[in-house]
Amino acid sequence: MGLWPFVLKRSVVTTDVVHAPFERVQEVLRDPPALITLNPLVVGYELQPGTDDTYIITDKLRVLGIPFTSKYTAQVTKGDEITTFIVKAGAGTSSTNIWKWVVQANGDGVEVTEEAKVEAPFLTILFVVSTIKRTHKILLQQLKSKLEGKEESQAKGDEAQATPKRKKELYDMSHLELNKLPGDDPNTAPKSEWLNMGYWKSTSSFPEACTNLCDEVLHAARITSTDRVLDVGHACGDSLLHIISQLPSGLPLSLTGITSLPAHYEKARTRVENATRVELDGARQPEIRLHLGDVIYRPSSPPNHPFKPLGETDPFPFDKILALDCAYHFETRKVFFEQAFGHLSPGGRIALADICLPATSGSFLRRMIDATGALMPRENMVTIDEYETQLRRVGFEDVSVRDITDDVFPGFRAFLRTKGWRWLLTEWVVGLYAADGARFVLASAEKPRFQ
Ligand SMILES: C[S@@+](CC[C@H](N)C(=O)[O-])C[C@H]1O[C@@H](n2cnc3c(N)ncnc32)[C@H](O)[C@@H]1O
Repeated sequence: MGLWPFVLKRSVVTTDVVHAPFERVQEVLRDPPALITLNPLVVGYELQPGTDDTYIITDKLRVLGIPFTSKYTAQVTKGDEITTFIVKAGAGTSSTNIWKWVVQANGDGVEVTEEAKVEAPFLTILFVVSTIKRTHKILLQQLKSKLEGKEESQAKGDEAQATPKRKKELYDMSHLELNKLPGDDPNTAPKSEWLNMGYWKSTSSFPEACTNLCDEVLHAARITSTDRVLDVGHACGDSLLHIISQLPSGLPLSLTGITSLPAHYEKARTRVENATRVELDGARQPEIRLHLGDVIYRPSSPPNHPFKPLGETDPFPFDKILALDCAYHFETRKVFFEQAFGHLSPGGRIALADICLPATSGSFLRRMIDATGALMPRENMVTIDEYETQLRRVGFEDVSVRDITDDVFPGFRAFLRTKGWRWLLTEWVVGLYAADGARFVLASAEKPRFQ
């Protein structure tokens, strides 16, 4: 899909008053290397061979702790009261940064202003603009510190503080739109609320494809009526409802869920309560416990977390653990494997629909998306072979990782293309990752019966 019609323009203005002589301020603002190295992201620069006004600059960003290197060129034009940087960063991203300096009307200091006129694809414009806003403010603070004779470390500290600690939640409730069937009343809620990429082998209906993917995971888990099941990342609870109403092998003994988004958790709780009241009226009720939160147990987790550390005499709480299209988000998936292993009974099984992705990429845009950490932490970017090895190293056996990419991505993308422009970005991102070697897999493994 062509991206370039979607280039957007924004302007970022940064200004401050520097209390230093005008000539001194002008000297630095007309000295490109001095200005370039005040940018807190810059780790290197050099003159482009054959030019005396164009610099190749290397930035190192840390987004969510993940280092990300980017190279771009800046052509500099120096005037008496203005310095202009024409920046070209590739992949449709460019900016014209105009620096101006003027003595304040009251004579108290020199007002320095930078206007960055930015152009970037709609996909990355927010990231580019927020990075420029944050770092150019620091650049100006560094300029002030340098010219006013203060320490630079204070401004560097601000950059470290500005680095976000937690990734943004990727999901909301917009997936309900995908669950609407042709002919459904547009004013009523859809019957299902699935939020996975689906298994499209024999269907073009989203709810059916999602149910089919869930069935693949349930089949790989081999659930029986004596099992205690944990379903992680269940979103609005369709997999839980499916287990309650559809399992041919009968209901499990207990069903525990944990999911990270409050709106999803509330939905799942209400829907599961209704389903157990209506569908299981008079029948044996499995014990159901739903939790809101991160599936990974940390010392700050609540004491009833499903993966809370077990005492010497505590029984293993689960026989089957399911992760339907979510484990690639976990920080990290390897820790999830370890905690799952530690809480499964001997002979217990883990089953996942998941994504394998080589860590390296030649694609600038993929690296931009990777750097946001929105899709998956870098540690989770592993090949199918590495995925299998991780499961074995944790102690699992009977490891199976089946590549089902051809029955997932093409069908999901074709479906998204029918859902209007709002879904084209998702469709494009899935296509970008697929082209970069992403594989959709169905994985399962067993904890040894005898250890
Ligand atoms: C692609 S959706 C899949 C939802 C559901 N399994 C389904 O098939 O409809 C991924 C879900 O995992 C949840 N999730 C992501 N990271 C999580 C974490 N660390 N702990 C618990 N849930 C998480 C998200 O909030 C989201 O609901």
